[in-house]
Amino acid sequence: MSRLTHLLRQWKAARLAAAVRPEVVVATATPEPEKAPPGPVEPAAPEPPPVAEAAPPAGPPVAIHPLLPTDAIMAIQRGTLHYRYRGRQMLKCPFDLALYTELVGDLRPGTILELGSFKGASALWFADVLRAHGLNESRVRSLDIKPVTDIDDPMVTYGHIDLADPATWPTAAFIDGLRRPILYVDDASHQYDHVLGLLRFAHGWLRAGDYLAIEDGNIDYMPGYPQHFNGGPLRAIREFLAEHPEEYRIDRRRCDFYGTNVTWNIDGYIERVR
Ligand SMILES: C[S@@+](CC[C@H](N)C(=O)[O-])C[C@H]1O[C@@H](n2cnc3c(N)ncnc32)[C@H](O)[C@@H]1O
Repeated sequence: MSRLTHLLRQWKAARLAAAVRPEVVVATATPEPEKAPPGPVEPAAPEPPPVAEAAPPAGPPVAIHPLLPTDAIMAIQRGTLHYRYRGRQMLKCPFDLALYTELVGDLRPGTILELGSFKGASALWFADVLRAHGLNESRVRSLDIKPVTDIDDPMVTYGHIDLADPATWPTAAFIDGLRRPILYVDDASHQYDHVLGLLRFAHGWLRAGDYLAIEDGNIDYMPGYPQHFNGGPLRAIREFLAEHPEEYRIDRRRCDFYGTNVTWNIDGYIERVR
């Protein structure tokens, strides 16, 4: 084969390869910018007024579960949302089921005051854990904007509260009737202002020896979840503890029992110490 024929064949092979691999063609083709049709020049649109930037919620951006990969967080969350206790949906993650069980045994609460009853299962479960520890005189008071009406348990009372309306918050007579120590559990709306408002309210009647569990501090920082809670419980916890540095202490033993904040109650196990 002459050198000319050889070069010709090489050139044809290269063209064929480019034709059957469209990405070669696409990658090299640069679209012409569209030309504006001739005509009168439009006046420039006025500048839009400046938009105030929404304040980002105080607190960490996303890395609140430093030990858990995103896939694990989302899988645990999926399971938590589908978990059932005594046939009813109950929204507690497995770490917190274990941590609460031990906490009830250690604290021996006279009352578990729960904000956020949902289907009533968590109050029922708290009552069963109390019974399992022989705490038969203790009581669970569970409040919600939609009180549970279809559960009958001698240790549990369901009632109404709207966290957004202080007129519905517990009365002095209700609080005076609670056995101590109180385990105060906020698992209701998770809105930053609600959680903080109720924490400030509870500060007026919680005493040294009582205990707080503020749930779902991860709710506004979970990967893939929209931020609807204005920083949520975690922001409220931070601000509340900054207001009362002497009276409360985060129970790090429980928060970090399975690894740093491997719980859905991020920095949310809190002792009242003074
Ligand atoms: C996460 S669920 C509670 C889950 C339950 N503690 C459990 O572990 O199965 C949140 C509950 O908060 C209640 N809630 C939402 N907004 C509220 C408000 N403004 N006041 C009182 N309760 C509210 C809802 O009706 C819902 O039952």
